[in-house]
Amino acid sequence: MKGLTIANGGDKSKRRKMDFYPTPPEATHALMKFLKLGPCLICEPACGDGAMAEVLKQYGHGIMASDLRQSGYGCGGVDFLLSDGDYDAIITNPPFNVSEEFIRHAIPQARVVAMILKSQYWHAKKRRKLFNEFPPAYVLPLTWRPDFGGGGSPTMEVTWTVWIEGEEDTRYRQLSKPLKV
Ligand SMILES: C[S@@+](CC[C@H](N)C(=O)[O-])C[C@H]1O[C@@H](n2cnc3c(N)ncnc32)[C@H](O)[C@@H]1O
Repeated sequence: MKGLTIANGGDKSKRRKMDFYPTPPEATHALMKFLKLGPCLICEPACGDGAMAEVLKQYGHGIMASDLRQSGYGCGGVDFLLSDGDYDAIITNPPFNVSEEFIRHAIPQARVVAMILKSQYWHAKKRRKLFNEFPPAYVLPLTWRPDFGGGGSPTMEVTWTVWIEGEEDTRYRQLSKPLKV
């Protein structure tokens, strides 16, 4: 699918500038309905035009939204990899080309970290080290293919991976598409 950064990880020539691919709202709703977080401060460090941050807000959380780009949403010109914070949660769809750096940088900054990634993400041998160093609490495959705006029928499958402080026995659970969002 040409419109999905997490899908186009293997074809750099086709990726959009700065890996900008807004996440369809139902993918974020599915995560939030699963996590059931109490009121807390969430950082969306690659917020783009706010597609994900706007959903997170609907759950009553405080949202700190920023992005490297100046998109007119949130705080522009902030390189997440060069910034530090202290949050209850960090939730995002990271730019694929620096996804591992995003994961490594996020985990020390929040009790809960959730990143939406292509489903094959953890199949890569080169990511064994990352997985073993930071075992996720959950790997949550979406049971539908979200439309990241590539046109035509979406073909890529994605999962949320969630890290929770103190929870290192990885559990695998399917997420259903919310009926109403
Ligand atoms: C896949 S898009 C996701 C946008 C938004 N999170 C969403 O789900 O709708 C990735 C975003 O990462 C931003 N980005 C790329 N490198 C970044 C960096 N080092 N720090 C912060 N944002 C970055 C891009 O500008 C782009 O908006």
